[in-house]
Amino acid sequence: MNVDGKSRYHEVHARSLADPEGFWAEAAKEIDWIQPPKTIFDPSQGTYGRWFTGGVVNTCYNALDRHVERGRADQVALIHDSPLTGSITRLTYAELLSEVQALGAIMQDFGVAKGDRVILYMPMVPEAVVAMLACARIGAVHSVVFGGFAAKELATRIDDAQPKLILSASCGIEPGRIVQYKPLLDEAIKLAGSKPKACIVLQRSQLTCDMTPGRDYDWASLRRKALNDGKKAPCVPVAATDPLYILYTSGTTGIPKGVVRDNGGHLVAVKWSMFNLYGVKPGEVWWCGSDIGWVVGHSYIVYGPLLHGATTIMYEGKPVGTPDAGAFWRVIAEHKAVAFFTAPTAFRAIRKDDPEGKFIRQYDLSKFRTLFLAGERADPPTVEWAEQQLKVPVIDHWWQTETGWCIAGNPVGLGMLPVKHGSPTVPMPGYQVDVVDEAAKPVGPNTMGSIVIKLPMPPGCLPTLWNQDERFKEAYLSEFPGYYKTSDAGYKDEDGYVFVMGRTDDIINVAGHRLSTGGMEEILASHPDVAECAVLGVKDAIKGEVPCGFLVLKAGVKRAPSEIEKEIIALVRDKLGPVAAFKLAITVGRLPKTRSGKILRGTIKKIADGDTWTMPATIEDPKALDEIGEALKGRV
Ligand code: COA
Ligand code: AMP
Repeated sequence: MNVDGKSRYHEVHARSLADPEGFWAEAAKEIDWIQPPKTIFDPSQGTYGRWFTGGVVNTCYNALDRHVERGRADQVALIHDSPLTGSITRLTYAELLSEVQALGAIMQDFGVAKGDRVILYMPMVPEAVVAMLACARIGAVHSVVFGGFAAKELATRIDDAQPKLILSASCGIEPGRIVQYKPLLDEAIKLAGSKPKACIVLQRSQLTCDMTPGRDYDWASLRRKALNDGKKAPCVPVAATDPLYILYTSGTTGIPKGVVRDNGGHLVAVKWSMFNLYGVKPGEVWWCGSDIGWVVGHSYIVYGPLLHGATTIMYEGKPVGTPDAGAFWRVIAEHKAVAFFTAPTAFRAIRKDDPEGKFIRQYDLSKFRTLFLAGERADPPTVEWAEQQLKVPVIDHWWQTETGWCIAGNPVGLGMLPVKHGSPTVPMPGYQVDVVDEAAKPVGPNTMGSIVIKLPMPPGCLPTLWNQDERFKEAYLSEFPGYYKTSDAGYKDEDGYVFVMGRTDDIINVAGHRLSTGGMEEILASHPDVAECAVLGVKDAIKGEVPCGFLVLKAGVKRAPSEIEKEIIALVRDKLGPVAAFKLAITVGRLPKTRSGKILRGTIKKIADGDTWTMPATIEDPKALDEIGEALKGRV
């Protein structure tokens, strides 16, 4: 298929690579700078150069104040829609600004200043958005920790970020279950070596919690007092290169990577994407159905739409079961969303409950123009189903926590290119995406290889890992000199369309959530009865992949394997969190290995997935694979 000649994409992308400074200087005009950048890109700074050096800015000013000053004060900025609590809350730009000013002042009273870190361990409530923006306002660096992570994961992040303050809530709400946050918060602070000065805790009416005297402060009381006293934090000027936030993501070990996002590059890139990629205009209603604990939530529930002067929807619910598979269509119709962004897994869940799309036809979706999918590979059957049912373009796009915005997508604002199922389409401006072999040499069209991004990365992408420049270089820049390694494998076709087929490391993608199997193996190995283990992702019809752990028990263990398997499942839930969806632990006599002792994960995965497989020539004992096949019978 030839690409459509009417799109401006090719001209725009070519210009972004030929004259990156000119391109991004123009995009930067959409931002209100306190002091414009002296240099658009300075290759001598940072690990691979820095964008917008010398620029001084405030992200919160760009997200709120300027819209209030220029006529959007009464426009709804945030719609919080929660089928889980049966409530819908709307905040105008003026109201959101006043909440953010008050919380910023409260945090300053706790001694939080520019550059200090603040951890947010919050459910999907409006206060979480207020907290992120309040940090941005006072120049503090937020680090949001997803509510589905357990205490130990939170503790690891506390130790790495060393926050002055933690903002949390009494509970999160999952269908049929209230998740108590406070015991997890307390346990995490106990486990962590670095202790916050204080915690501000939001009491939710669904389940309140006890406060730790001298450490915990009631959010509502502080807010009331700050508003009564007319406290308003002004915007603190920060350098464009100062960090806006740290977001931890799974790495190849149990220690997560602290992805740093700077203020200037993030502002410019994310603002650019709102119209040029997503086709959304200021004043329109946009919905991103992710969680603020993920990068997608940062960029497109909070910052992108607000920087653009759009109305953003924050949804506390699920695609199915809250109350039914029509929930998404109800939200789109009720709030008149023009575009929606979610993960393919959500569509697989909806399709299973409503294969004929009966719910879709119960709602007025006339305002709805485009569906965007990301977070995992968009499998063609799911995309086709969504296209047929919704009758709007369904756009897959590919990105990572590290990049903060889309690497490859189909730019609606520039003019859509023809969709090819299975491909997230083409590299966005600023990204030169190559597919290379082991020697870092680009391979030809339709040849699989490692997908890499030519340095420098465009604005918005991570400049480094928090306090870990060396780990950043080692993990991303060293294997393919001159490139950033995405750790995704795939190919480009003759039209330059990118096809992302899977990870080259131990990361798996479970219901759009990124998890490290290496991290899970560390937990399995910590069980006293486990001699050896391997965790890999096996196919799942809804979640795409789910983790499956194979255990070899220590010699002399007399207890029933089923009992140990149950303990292992509970251990992963307790240490990593329910989000791991770790429900399969299988005891085997031994793990199939090569003669040099490497576990044959790829072959085990093929057996578990029911795919065709060939006997690896280097296998130590072929019978070990038959044993795996036997152990899997009736389990997956
Ligand atoms: N706090 C506490 N627990 C959480 C949680 C949170 N914020 N989010 C998820 N969990 C729990 C769930 O309750 C579930 O617990 P359970 O084992 O007791 O059932 C477990 O973690 C696994 O969650 P999940 O993988 O989300 O499965 P699910 O069955 O609840 O829902 C989907 C399945 C497909 C509907 C859901 O995963 C989904 O909507 N995914 C979209 C993901 C997405 O938007 N990703 C962002 C990238 S764009
Ligand atoms: P995360 O950092 O959680 O956003 O996960 C990033 C990873 O998810 C990528 O490296 C890919 O492996 C996968 N991913 C995200 N979006 C897509 C997509 N559209 N197609 C294929 N894989 C994707």
